[in-house]
Amino acid sequence: MNNQILKDEIESYLKECFKNQGTYDKELYEAMDYSLNVGGKRIRPLLFINTYSVYKDNYKDVMDIAVAIEMIHTYSLIHDDLPCMDNDDLRRGKPTNHKVYGEAMALLAGDGLLSEAMSTMFKYCSDKDMNAVKACGLIAKACSAYGMVGGQVVDMISTGKEISKEQLKYMHRKKTGALIEAAILSGAILGEAPNNEYKLFKEFGEKVGLAFQIKDDILDIVGDSKTMGKKAKSDIENNKTTYVTTYGLEECKKMCAYITEECMDILSQINGDTEGLKKITEFLLERKK
Ligand code: IPE
Ligand code: IPE
Ligand code: MG
Ligand code: MG
Ligand code: MG
Repeated sequence: MNNQILKDEIESYLKECFKNQGTYDKELYEAMDYSLNVGGKRIRPLLFINTYSVYKDNYKDVMDIAVAIEMIHTYSLIHDDLPCMDNDDLRRGKPTNHKVYGEAMALLAGDGLLSEAMSTMFKYCSDKDMNAVKACGLIAKACSAYGMVGGQVVDMISTGKEISKEQLKYMHRKKTGALIEAAILSGAILGEAPNNEYKLFKEFGEKVGLAFQIKDDILDIVGDSKTMGKKAKSDIENNKTTYVTTYGLEECKKMCAYITEECMDILSQINGDTEGLKKITEFLLERKK
């Protein structure tokens, strides 16, 4: 499967989500649509569909779940950028949601996206089997206090502090890893992956999610704001504790390369066609944004 074509297709669905919605609350839908359609790599829905497609051909059947995952991710970015969180002005190459719509609207746009994602998943499950419930439950849990929100809290309370390597790994696994892992595992569940391969995907998901946030920490130092579409050196300015502040830049680069190799090795143990997933994994290591 060509990931560029798939990305375009995902985006054509995202464009329709909140088009011409609302009456007196029209601005809310505009705010949700703004952040959802302003760009982004769409890594999570791509990982989801690529994993599903190892087992099934009809990926359009699960497009709603791909869209829900991207809505959840976009909500997390809107809130992450708020002045009370990372206080960033640039996201996906455009002013952040609160810079355009104000803080209160940005908060509500995030709430709206998260709730719409849940509603989309419930609707999807209404005429499906228990696998669908299991897959959607896993995604919901990944953005809960047990996943992303918990990770964001550790990020927040660790600011300006030295934390243990264990705590740092916990933070990354939760704030970023959890949703990435859930995107992969929900794809495996809906694809009806055999048990042994589900376990491999769990290992893959954990590793690729961790490597993703380490790379994000690296890019904060070495990346360019224009290329990334978000502010470089934001972590430094905010006095954040990251993989780079803990391990140093060179060690982090080595870690990323090593974990990527492990990911490729896991994918090679899976019977079906994992070419698309391998391409994404490689891209994540090399990415400049
Ligand atoms: C950025 O995510 C926030 C993190 C969880 C590190 P992405 O790097 O996937 O951002 P977009 O979606 O491409 O804008
Ligand atoms: C964000 O981590 C994680 C979530 C949005 C859940 P960062 O704060 O490092 O993400 P960026 O660098 O702003 O994209
Ligand atoms: Mg943050
Ligand atoms: Mg941030
Ligand atoms: Mg970051």
